[in-house]
Amino acid sequence: MLHAAPYRTQAPLAPRLLTASLILLATLVLWSLWSLRRHWTHRLAAEQALLREHAFRQAMENSLQTGLRARDLEGRITYVNPAFCRMVGWPAEELIGRSPPMPYWADELLEETRALHDRILAGKGPLEGFEIKLKRRTGEVFDVLIHEAPLIDARGHHTGWMSSIVDITENKRTEERERQQQQRLQATARLVTMGEMASSLAHELNQPLAAIASYTTGCINLIDSGQRDAAQLKSPLAKCAEQAQRAGRIIHRIYEFARRAEPRAESCDLIAIVDEVLGLIDADARRQQIRILRDLPAELPPLLGDRVLLTQALLNLVRNGMDAMAHMPAERRILTILGKRGDATLRLSIADRGGGIAPEILAHLFEPFRTTKAEGMGMGLNICRSVVEAHRGRLWHEARPDGGCIFNVELPLVDT
Ligand SMILES: Nc1ncnc2c1ncn2[C@@H]1O[C@H](COP(=O)(O)OP(=O)(O)O)[C@@H](O)[C@H]1O
Ligand SMILES: [Mg+2]
Repeated sequence: MLHAAPYRTQAPLAPRLLTASLILLATLVLWSLWSLRRHWTHRLAAEQALLREHAFRQAMENSLQTGLRARDLEGRITYVNPAFCRMVGWPAEELIGRSPPMPYWADELLEETRALHDRILAGKGPLEGFEIKLKRRTGEVFDVLIHEAPLIDARGHHTGWMSSIVDITENKRTEERERQQQQRLQATARLVTMGEMASSLAHELNQPLAAIASYTTGCINLIDSGQRDAAQLKSPLAKCAEQAQRAGRIIHRIYEFARRAEPRAESCDLIAIVDEVLGLIDADARRQQIRILRDLPAELPPLLGDRVLLTQALLNLVRNGMDAMAHMPAERRILTILGKRGDATLRLSIADRGGGIAPEILAHLFEPFRTTKAEGMGMGLNICRSVVEAHRGRLWHEARPDGGCIFNVELPLVDT
């Protein structure tokens, strides 16, 4: 019979340490595997976020209508967006890496574009954006508005220049169309004014011509009746000459008006203008039994403006006032022209005692072709307002409590 019993002895230290370190190592491996996994999921999430962000930026850049272009410090193109490629017609591959002169620079502006390019690279480009012409691949030249900004990288280094480019050809075309339309409109307004003026002046011409005719007839009668005394003929002939001069002045005004392209800025005396208007309507006023009260200071400081236009404007206001009173009882037919000096202005008020502004026209009084008169053109007040506003003045009207209305013209005085 063999009996075996284990012999319990103190185990040596080394294998024990080995076991312990094996366990430690295994835990370490497990832990690092776990943290690797954690890191991995984080990284994946970050990558996804980055991808999303990138896709979003890409979509944004691609859908932009504004062209974007980046250049490095030497002026080489480092980036262009699709909008810029569409604009100029070259694909990104053919543009990136190019140095000046760029294929999209307009041939006739090469020098200028180059100078501008150099100025931008030197950091002296215009800050507020600038307009320039570029060329498409098809050769078509078009207008763009460019804004330049320095390109700064994540570490704060200046690495180049970023530009936004907007095609403004359409805007330019619209602007040009509008300008031409405005010009045509002005030309039409001028023609209408001329028409209006010619008709009122033709009307005015009638009077001196009729007077001349009657004076000369008188002279002929005198001669026919055997009158040989030259002194007797002198007075009607002098009057005749005076009327001829008056007619000449009227024609001169049409001529002056037709000739000038722009309103003039000359020193004018408002009192002289009022008196000229009064001279022009004097005969009509007498025939229509209208009393004209002239209430002006003895002297007024001069105005800077166009005498012919101001006379015409005032003439229309006075004629409107007279027309308004045509059907009033004779004792009501009084037109007052009041002149006053303000601090920095001169004011003329033309007050009539007619029926006031017809209600149907009140809201559109100053619009062209608004008239209540059978033979009226309805351009008078529109022209008056343009003339007064061209002189930096104001034209407005008010109703008089006892009937009739007042048209006021306020004009600025010359700064001295
Ligand atoms: N002083 C006034 N009193 C009453 N109505 C006026 C007066 N001035 C202008 N109007 C009205 O304004 C209209 C437009 O005047 P205006 O532009 O001078 O054209 P027109 O004299 O050719 O009619 C006139 O037809 C008239 O109805
Ligand atoms: Mg009128």
